[in-house]
Amino acid sequence: MYSRGLLPLLLSALISLVVATPVSHLDPTLSRVFDTTDKLPLPNQGNLRAHDPNILQYNGSFYLFKGGPHVPFFKATDLSGPWTKIGTVLDGDSVIHMGNRSRPWAPTTIERDGTFYCYYTLSWSGSRTSAIGVATTTTLDGSPWTDHGAMIHTGHGPGSQVWPFTITNAIDASFITDNSTGKSYLNYGSFWHDIWQLPLSDDLLSIENPKDPDAVQLTFIPHEKIKPEEGSWMSYHDGYYYAWFSHGQCCRFNEGFPARGMEYSIRVGRSRNVRGPFVDKENQLLLDGGGTIVYASNHGKVYAPGGIGVLAGNDTTPDILYYHYLNTSIGFTDADAHLGWNVLKHSDGWPFVVDGIVSTDSGAMEYLPNCFYLTMLMFSWLYIWS
Ligand SMILES: *[C@@H]1O[C@H](CO)[C@@H](O)[C@H](O)[C@H]1NC(C)=O
Ligand SMILES: *[C@@H]1O[C@H](CO)[C@@H](O)[C@H](O)[C@H]1NC(C)=O
Ligand SMILES: *[C@@H]1O[C@H](CO)[C@@H](O)[C@H](O)[C@H]1NC(C)=O
Ligand SMILES: *[C@@H]1O[C@H](CO)[C@@H](O)[C@H](O)[C@H]1NC(C)=O
Ligand SMILES: *[C@@H]1O[C@H](CO)[C@@H](O)[C@H](O)[C@H]1NC(C)=O
Repeated sequence: MYSRGLLPLLLSALISLVVATPVSHLDPTLSRVFDTTDKLPLPNQGNLRAHDPNILQYNGSFYLFKGGPHVPFFKATDLSGPWTKIGTVLDGDSVIHMGNRSRPWAPTTIERDGTFYCYYTLSWSGSRTSAIGVATTTTLDGSPWTDHGAMIHTGHGPGSQVWPFTITNAIDASFITDNSTGKSYLNYGSFWHDIWQLPLSDDLLSIENPKDPDAVQLTFIPHEKIKPEEGSWMSYHDGYYYAWFSHGQCCRFNEGFPARGMEYSIRVGRSRNVRGPFVDKENQLLLDGGGTIVYASNHGKVYAPGGIGVLAGNDTTPDILYYHYLNTSIGFTDADAHLGWNVLKHSDGWPFVVDGIVSTDSGAMEYLPNCFYLTMLMFSWLYIWS
């Protein structure tokens, strides 16, 4: 038996679920473009528009920096928000004369001994004329930062005639400290010769030995004309360094879609040594086109995830992979990118993402959205057929 009031409600809920879910399966055009796999979990939604998000965990809060006018940053106590805008890293144009000086890309912010360092990029889309700059502050309350200007230039500008700046692209900075020596490195790059690593000076404001830097290449696609790897991140977990990067087309899908699988996906390789060489799960060198896919378009809903970072967990909190993605029911401009995140687990030292919010690397699941919906669905059917 069922109540007459409840059935229409449940029916319409069910129909909207059924209609909303497989829309991309039904439309042959869409399924040629959007991967409809359900092997990957949906993101936990960050509830913030962000392209190339970067998150710093500090003093019990999350601080999110993103590409945008003067590098806006936000604060939240939960990765799913609500996010409060604190201010911008730059209070005007960058002191670097390159690219769009009022709209840096892809910031990465770290904290060291009470100082925050924000590494940011200036460039134009599709250009190798780029620079990575750095700004610092000692508080994250919105007080002014100090812009120290460029650390490296490619294409033109001071030092751009020095190898490897002659062949690389100074964009998408990330940062890693060697766990055993305490030495820090800047990772950067995209397309052209893909991703590289440079030792930083102790002040973290400049690279070491700028006239002859001890650069190593981390990733490369040797045999393809187009080498779409960028947006690198490096993390450390249980004895391995993980070189993460985004592979494929990042942007401008509103102007047209590439073939399915050619859009951004999130890939990784690992090494015992911070300087590499890095290999993927199939033991293929990242320098030879390798990279294990950890997250990619899924469900016909999540498209072109990339622009990643990893928040390191500890004994009680798991590692978290965060990224931007496009929601196929919202839109495809760069400004439509949203923050998403998933808990990372490891199997034989290889990271993979899991569904929902999981409290620790080893254990208990607090919340599984899919279980919830399945249960709802089951109850709806029971009501309808009873
Ligand atoms: C850390 O957070 C506490 C409480 O929110 C605040 O009182 C304190 O000033 C913060 N410390 C720093 C260094 O930001
Ligand atoms: C530079 O960035 C600003 C802020 O996003 C934007 O308003 C402006 O149109 C950009 N300039 C160019 C030439 O793209
Ligand atoms: C290096 O990693 C080990 C084990 O993961 C950890 O115990 C140690 O504190 C780390 N050292 C540094 C300098 O981060
Ligand atoms: C683990 O990290 C969380 C979140 O940053 C923190 O609250 C907690 O104190 C940390 N626990 C340990 C054992 O370090
Ligand atoms: C995509 O957007 C729709 C409409 O706003 C929303 O209902 C859905 O939860 C979003 N999904 C993801 C994964 O962002």
